[in-house]
This record gives sequence, C-alpha cells and structure tokens, in this order.
Amino acid sequence: MKKILLIITGGIASYRALDLIREIKRSGDDVTCVMTKSACEFVQPISFATLSKNKVYTELFDLNNESEIGHINLSRESDLIVIVPATANTLYKIANGVADDLASTIMLASNKPTLIAPSMNVKMWENQNTIANVLKLKEQGIHFIGPNKGEMACGEVGYGKMASVQEIKKEIDYLLKPGILTGKRALVTSGPTIEQIDPVRFISNNSSGKQGHAIADALRRHGADTNLISGPVNIKDPENVKVTKVNSAEEMLHECRESLPVNIAIFAAAVSDWRCSNTSNIKIKKTPENDELNLNLEKNQDILKEISTLNKNRPDLVIGFSLETDNLIETAKEKLKNKSCDWIVANGHYNGKESVFDSDMNSVKLVENDNLEDWGYLTKNDVAEKLCIKISKFFNEAA
Ligand SMILES: Cc1cc2nc3c(=O)[nH]c(=O)nc-3n(C[C@H](O)[C@H](O)[C@H](O)COP(=O)(O)O)c2cc1C
Repeated sequence: MKKILLIITGGIASYRALDLIREIKRSGDDVTCVMTKSACEFVQPISFATLSKNKVYTELFDLNNESEIGHINLSRESDLIVIVPATANTLYKIANGVADDLASTIMLASNKPTLIAPSMNVKMWENQNTIANVLKLKEQGIHFIGPNKGEMACGEVGYGKMASVQEIKKEIDYLLKPGILTGKRALVTSGPTIEQIDPVRFISNNSSGKQGHAIADALRRHGADTNLISGPVNIKDPENVKVTKVNSAEEMLHECRESLPVNIAIFAAAVSDWRCSNTSNIKIKKTPENDELNLNLEKNQDILKEISTLNKNRPDLVIGFSLETDNLIETAKEKLKNKSCDWIVANGHYNGKESVFDSDMNSVKLVENDNLEDWGYLTKNDVAEKLCIKISKFFNEAA
C-alpha cells in the first residue's frame, strides 16, 4: 500500500479531487488530505475526511497535530505528494519558497516526488509570472499533468482546464511504480566525439553531454541496467551507471557493439560525421611555406544506422537524437526513415533564446512514425524523465 499526500487548493476544480480520492482508494492506496483555506471555501473538509477515511489537515498552527504528526512528517510519511487542483497562487508560493500556510510549508520542507495538476483560467495560465513559476518547478524535477485545452467554468476556451481524474490517476500509478524499467538493459551515448588531425589537434563539437548523461541517470533511477558510452565531457559521471569513455566515433561504435544485447539504445551523442583520412603521427608544423593546410576527411560510420539495422541483437527500441540549424522536423523525419530507428528526438540548435549546447534546457520534438509530439522548452532532466516514462509505456504496450 502506497501513501499519497493530497494537497487540495482553492479553485473551481477543487471538488474533482473527491473523485481522485475514490480512484486512489479503489487501488488500495492510502490518501491523507491537506486543504488550503481557499479550498475549504469550495468544499467542506468533511467530504475529504469521509472519502479518504483519514483526518484532513488545514492548519499550520495546530499544536495537537504538531505533536502527533507535524508538517514535516506529513511529507516524510508519504510516497508521493499530489496537488489537485493547483491554483496559480499555490504555484507561485511553491516556486518562490513561500511558507505561510500548511500546504506551502509542507512543500518547502518536502523531499518527496510531487505531481501537480494545475487548473486555472487561460489568461492566468498564460501569464508570464505563471509561466516562470511552472518552469522553475519543472527545473526542480516536479512532475506536471495538464492543464488541458478546453472550455473553462468562466466560458473562456484554451489551456487551463485540469487534466481528467483518469489522466491524473494514471500518472500517479507511473510515479509510484518502483522501477518502471526494472529488468531492462539500456545503452546511452553522450557527449561529443573527437577526431584527431595530429597528436595535439582535433575536430570536435560543442556537445556538453548534459542531455545524454541526464538520460543515463534517469534510466538507472527507473531501474534499467544502464551502460553510458561517453565522449570527452567535463561533467560528473552519473552514479550507479557503467561508464565507458571513448574519443572517436570509431571507438564509440566499437563500444556500442560490445555492449549489446540491450533492450533500449539511445544515441544522444553528437558524433562527428567525418574523420581525417590522413591523420599525422607527428604534430603538423607551421612553416613559412604552408599558408594553407588541406585536411582530407572521410565519412565515419553512422552509429545510429549501424545499430538500428542489425539483423542480430537489434535493441527492441532504438532512439536517435537529431540536432539541426534548419529544417529540423523534415530532417528528423528523413533520419527516422533512412536510419531505421524507432524514434527521433529532434532538439533545436537555437530556440530563440539560447543554444541547446551546454544549457540545462532543451527544446524537443519527438518524431515517431507519422506522429510528432512537441515537448516544448524544458530542462534536460525533464526530457530524460519524459523519455523514460514514454519508454516504459512502449514496453507495457508491447507486452
Ligand atoms: C469562484 C472562484 C474560483 C476560482 N477558481 C480558481 C481556479 O480555478 N484556479 C486558480 O488558480 N484560482 C482560482 N481562484 C482564485 C484562488 O481561489 C485564489 O487565488 C486563492 O488565493 C488561492 O488560494 P490557495 O492557492 O491557497 O488555495 C478562484 C477564486 C474564486 C473566488
């Protein structure tokens, strides 16, 4: 039995948290409710107490409860915190470390995974302040479900409508499941490759490895036995992941082959398409005579295509990353077809704000068959998390 701490804030959708309690109880899990003062204006706490079969907490300064349970313990004793519905006001408070009532104090003191289902008027959702608060919370690894597009209680149409109780319950189940990728073996490539010109010079690119490393870390957290093959990077190795360090594309391909068979292969490395065909064994001298230096480049083998088209030991799911400065989607679709992989994660070079290189943020569109999912602008950790959940759904559907 899992323990869920359900925080209800004061919006027009507050009453829908009652249905969610029914669904959670039906699965045999336990729910304890915390309500904000505004939530109590919408629904009486007794309704939540009756359905949850637990005491409902509303006050921060309740000495009895502090001695019995306390605001810290409410978070510590739960497996997951779910905020349904989450008002714009509460999003602001959590994102900015405000702790002026029981719900916000719990959140500031929390060390638990959290799922938030926002619900508000479309203008509130699209307000720059709300956007900044949501971005901040996502960067902290908080999970969001919805809001969806639809007609609101005020009659306006747009994004702001709370996700359905079924959608929220499904997400809760995913987050509560221990190791959604337990039993799977995964291979991830990350970082750039370097192709030597001579012993001291090389061709490379700006890849930091942040995205590939975040994916390896997330796969491992979700229970997958993970092998990370990384080009030279300046970031920490993820914990509990087997890391193999390589320099060139050739070495990376060799290590990928060595790590087969795997269930999941994710190629997030920025592999050099070319290598020098006339690498010098000694440092090429700059002399008064040579004003120009001509490098002969030959194509590297395409790692994604090589692994995708294997007859024996092809991974069940092969995911490529694609980065372009132009025609991102068209190129991603072509790559999906030409390289015989299953999904392409198209991440943009520039998103209008900053380069994806070395940034903690990414701008992602996932291409799968004829479908295109726009994941928007999100942290690289969030991309990794979303990818793991999608991968786990892939295996669940295939089973
Ligand atoms: C009738 C009514 C409906 C409201 N619906 C919402 C809503 O759906 N979403 C929202 O963010 N705020 C809504 N508000 C405003 C919040 O109740 C208000 O911002 C309050 O301070 C939220 O407090 P809380 O976040 O502590 O629950 C509504 C207010 C009223 C009077």
